[in-house]
Amino acid sequence: MEELIESMKRTFATHFQYYVKAHGYHTNVVGINFTEFHKLFGKIYEHAQDEIDGIAEQIRAIEGIAPFSMERIMELGSIKDSKERPKAIDMARELLADSQILENHYMESYDMAEEMNAAGLCNYLGGLIDAHKKYQWMLRSTLE
Ligand SMILES: [Fe+2]
Repeated sequence: MEELIESMKRTFATHFQYYVKAHGYHTNVVGINFTEFHKLFGKIYEHAQDEIDGIAEQIRAIEGIAPFSMERIMELGSIKDSKERPKAIDMARELLADSQILENHYMESYDMAEEMNAAGLCNYLGGLIDAHKKYQWMLRSTLE
């Protein structure tokens, strides 16, 4: 179970980093297609924001402690921080790549949960994977 908890903590931290970036891009995007990017990034960050609590509660349910300090989140997460403001199209490119990194974390946790016969957690992570497949499709289509 300890391995699953550690994996879920990395998943939580990476998810949290993704949320912060997507929300920041939603707010700060500029350019001729502002409205479209603003809306798409809005959908993405709102979903990520809604699920922060869900992932943390899943960690508590398997008796882990959900990370609650920014230092710990930066330590555990896999998404590179963005300090400059990229062009809108580069924001979309980055969110797509980061979504794939995040999906790998969901998958890693999913595989471990499956081994532990944690069916509820598998279902929950499966929903996150599905949602990210959809956002990846939207981002890819924007980039074509
Ligand atoms: Fe907004």
